This record gives sequence, C-alpha cells and structure tokens, in this order.
Amino acid sequence: MFGPHLYAVFGSPIVHSKSPEVHRAFARQTEQDMMYTKQEVTPEEFKETVDDFFELGGMGLNITLPLKELAYQYADKVSLRAKLAKAVNTLIRDKNGSILGDNTDGIGIVRDITINQRWHLKSQRVLILGAGGAVRGVLGPILDEEPKSIVIANRTASKAVDLAKSFEGMGDVSGCGLNSIPPGVFDVIINGTSMSLQGAAPPLNPAQMTAQTCAYDMAYGSGPTAFLQWAESQGLVALADGLGMLVEQAAESFYLWRRVRPKTAPVIQMLREGMRREI
Ligand code: ATR
Repeated sequence: MFGPHLYAVFGSPIVHSKSPEVHRAFARQTEQDMMYTKQEVTPEEFKETVDDFFELGGMGLNITLPLKELAYQYADKVSLRAKLAKAVNTLIRDKNGSILGDNTDGIGIVRDITINQRWHLKSQRVLILGAGGAVRGVLGPILDEEPKSIVIANRTASKAVDLAKSFEGMGDVSGCGLNSIPPGVFDVIINGTSMSLQGAAPPLNPAQMTAQTCAYDMAYGSGPTAFLQWAESQGLVALADGLGMLVEQAAESFYLWRRVRPKTAPVIQMLREGMRREI
C-alpha cells in the first residue's frame, strides 16, 4: 500500500480520547509516515468496523472502553499479558494478514511507576484499590516486577477475592473488601477504582501508610484527583496520576506497530500543559 500507514483508536465514547494527539506526537518525533484517527464504535458495530479497517489496509488499532474484551475475542492470536488481562487494547496486523492482540496497559503503568516516577515495585507491599477491568488489565505486569505482596481491596469484596485467585500462581496476591484490609503499612497504593472520577476518596486507614508510601491514581484530570488530594492530606509526598500510564501504554503500542520506541517525557509534558490550558 502507498501513502501513510493507517492506525486508529476505536471506542465509545471516543471524543475525549487523547490517543491521536499522543501517537501523532510520537510519529513526528520518530519520523514515521503514519496517520492516526479516532472513531466512535459501539460494541454492536465492532466486528464489522474492525474487519473493514483491516481490509482497507489498516495496520493497527488501539481499542478502548467498552471494546477491550471484544478485541480479545476478535484477535487471531493474543499475547500472554492479554490472556491474563482477558482484554486487548492493541491490534496488530502481521505480514501474513493475521491479527495479533496485545495489552499494553500493564507495562504502561509499570514503566510510569518504575522509570518515570522512579518508585520501586520489587519487594514492596502493594495495595490496589478496585477489581474491575482496569485492575485486571495491569495485574500481570505488576506481578512480574516481583512485589513482596499485593492486596486487592474492592467495595464488592467477592470481586477482589475472585480476581486475586485468578492470579495466585504468580505471587503473593490476596483480595478483600475496602473495609477489611489486612493490617500493616503499604509501600505503594494504586487506585484503580472509578471513585476519583466521582470526586470521592477511599476510606483507608491512615495507619496503613507513612510519608514514604507512594500513591498512584490510574485516573487523571486537569488537577490532582480526589484520591491524590486525599493522599497528600495524609502527608504522602510521592504522588502520581495516570497521565504517564496513558502515554507509556501508547508508546508500547507504537513500538509493537513500528518497532521504534518514542521518547515519552516530552509527550507527557505536552499533554500536561494542554490540560492546564483547558482549566
Ligand atoms: P473499569 O473497567 O474501569 O475497572 P469497572 O469494571 O466498572 O470499570 O470497575 C470500577 C471499579 O471501581 C470497581 O472496582 C468498583 O467497585 P465494585 O466492584 O464494588 O463496583 C469501583 N468503584 C466504583 N465506584 C466506587 C465507589 N464510589 N466506591 C468504591 N469503589 C468504587
């Protein structure tokens, strides 16, 4: 095919997606001849729209909510990390026309935490709040970092217990309710609930953190999220939202498609400045 290689992100709603901005910045930076668009696609339209995209010569897709499970079913082959997540956020057309499914969300948060923030996960006691798709998507790569233990705490305790069980062969991981978190101090607390989007903070016991505890919110906004504001009010100083994760997962998708690894720091900074201007 002649002309730029075609990529896109599909989801619903898609209007606020920052993926085109991120991938266009990567393409400029690494001088890749590619086009990246966003498209509103409902679950009902998913299969036909993805078929059409690849038939028309598309090279790769990002898939966001609520289509990640459908993309997992769609792919001809999936990576181990996608299998663990039971979700796919990246589709890649290989040279034989097969569609490969991968999930870059987990490596995205791990890179943001360990490289950009320079926090440790290895041998750390990690608390993860939430047990939905967002948390399932990142557990495999976080466990690969060999934390000492992971406690998954969720409003609906049974979902946390079930999720922990499906990862039990990979490390010390347990599940519980938000109000029955086992005692002890955590080194890293990751918020994977949608609470911040509702402006609420979790009912955590301040005795389970110290000033050295790192707080990470998978959500992000134009200012600090409710969870990070709450963490700061408890005296925590290492705070990060999910903007870096967004850019890192995109960078991993970009690498899978183009075999070129873009620099993420300038793109994180560009988005941060753009969001400040929106306030
Ligand atoms: P996602 O795919 O983004 O993870 P989800 O599957 O709807 O979305 O999961 C949302 C998560 O946020 C869940 O863990 C949910 O808890 P429940 O499993 O009990 O529903 C959590 N959540 C949402 N609103 C919450 C709130 N107000 N307080 C505590 N947890 C909340």
